[in-house]
Amino acid sequence: NIASPGVFILGKIVINGGKRLFGSVCIHGAKNAVLPVMAASLMNEGVTVIRGCPDIADVRAMCGILNHLHCKTDFKKGCLVIDTSMAEYEEIKAEDTKQLRASSVLMGPVLTRFGKVRLAYPGGCSIGSRPLDIHLHALKCLGASWSVSEDFIEMETTGLHPSEITLRFPSVGATENALMAAAAQCGTTVLYNAAKEPEIESLCAYLEKCGAVITGAGTECIRVRGKGVLQSAEFFAKPDRIVAGTYMAAVAACGGSVYLQGVTPSLCRGFLDVFTGMGMDIRMEGEAMLVQMYHRPVNLHKICTGAYPDFPTDMQSMVLSVASVGEGTLILKEQIFENRFKTVPWLKKMGADITLSGDSVLVKGVETLKGSEVYGEDLRGTAALITAGLAAQETTVIHDADYILRGYMDLCENLKGLGAEIEWENS
Ligand code: EPZ
Repeated sequence: NIASPGVFILGKIVINGGKRLFGSVCIHGAKNAVLPVMAASLMNEGVTVIRGCPDIADVRAMCGILNHLHCKTDFKKGCLVIDTSMAEYEEIKAEDTKQLRASSVLMGPVLTRFGKVRLAYPGGCSIGSRPLDIHLHALKCLGASWSVSEDFIEMETTGLHPSEITLRFPSVGATENALMAAAAQCGTTVLYNAAKEPEIESLCAYLEKCGAVITGAGTECIRVRGKGVLQSAEFFAKPDRIVAGTYMAAVAACGGSVYLQGVTPSLCRGFLDVFTGMGMDIRMEGEAMLVQMYHRPVNLHKICTGAYPDFPTDMQSMVLSVASVGEGTLILKEQIFENRFKTVPWLKKMGADITLSGDSVLVKGVETLKGSEVYGEDLRGTAALITAGLAAQETTVIHDADYILRGYMDLCENLKGLGAEIEWENS
């Protein structure tokens, strides 16, 4: 069994910026594809194998929750084996759910397996209020009743059944909960206004291997025909598109030429055109996507985040760092989360010319940022501070850097391998 969920060490990252990046990096498996499959493993009473699984704190935390539900987990060399044959009902406590937002996608599988669920409110990055009303609506359509208290969500059912569900917003997590609960029922459920992210398609592919028949994955209308039981299956995680985008942002901000192993332009849909628009050259060479930047980035006029395939909110903070040193002015509008501009004060401390107003920021690129002491406050925001530190002159210290452990394997080591002067130091 894995000992304990990812326990954060209080670390900081020290960067001497201004170095261009050259070399090759292998992009690990997708966090947001693996986490729902880990939850879905509860819906069969067998052994689920997840290959290409990233060894990151969120996966460790989800393993901890599965262990709490009496599942066995064994994680070796990127292969995670989950044995749910002995799973038993337990309420899922705050110390577990507070560590990751993805604990919300346990609701569908736990309800399916045990007929009830008591889940402390999920945690995760403080990028907004992150309500769960769409999840609860979808599961209620499928036959669950729910009540919420100050700290807990409780659900139960006398039996889930197929349904026609319309989501008021294409929530990724709510789509995942609905798909999983529907896949385990006898009959056809139709999901309207479903999320279209690649992680939805990979979850549907996994659920089909478990025995469901699914059409429309990746579109706004998904039909799920369940046969009442799901068997165990293997899952192969694709490379993490946001991790790939993180290295692209670093090259865009610093300049250089880097091979991203296992990445293709289609994996980067929604943000590839932002980087090429800023002047990045991108082409395939064998199994790797070569990204090159030989001049200062040129800022686009306006970028708006949106649901897939629009520009992804998870890339917003990093592109903001790149634009801070770009030529010209960018308006960046955040339309998914209401509190996802936490890097702005820190970028301003580094000399960026940024004005925040409501859900948008106006960035006027400056020639160089100056190294400073800054603080990480969420996963992608901390990755964005690293991007800024790599591009800045002199030394940047990023305190509370532990956030990156939630979603990145070996980020500092890989960047060092590309020529960055970057060190992780335990505080
Ligand atoms: C997933 O979060 C990802 N997390 C997020 O990535 C990503 O930013 C987000 O999708 C959007 O793409 C995982 O997959 C584990 P949503 P999720 O439900 O499912 C509102 C990262 O850095 N909403 O699509 O929580 C919500 O407040 C993380 O890897 C409701 O109002 O996102 C937000 O404004 C950060 N009610 C919007 O919808 C609900 O019931 C999108 O949320 C659910 C969501």
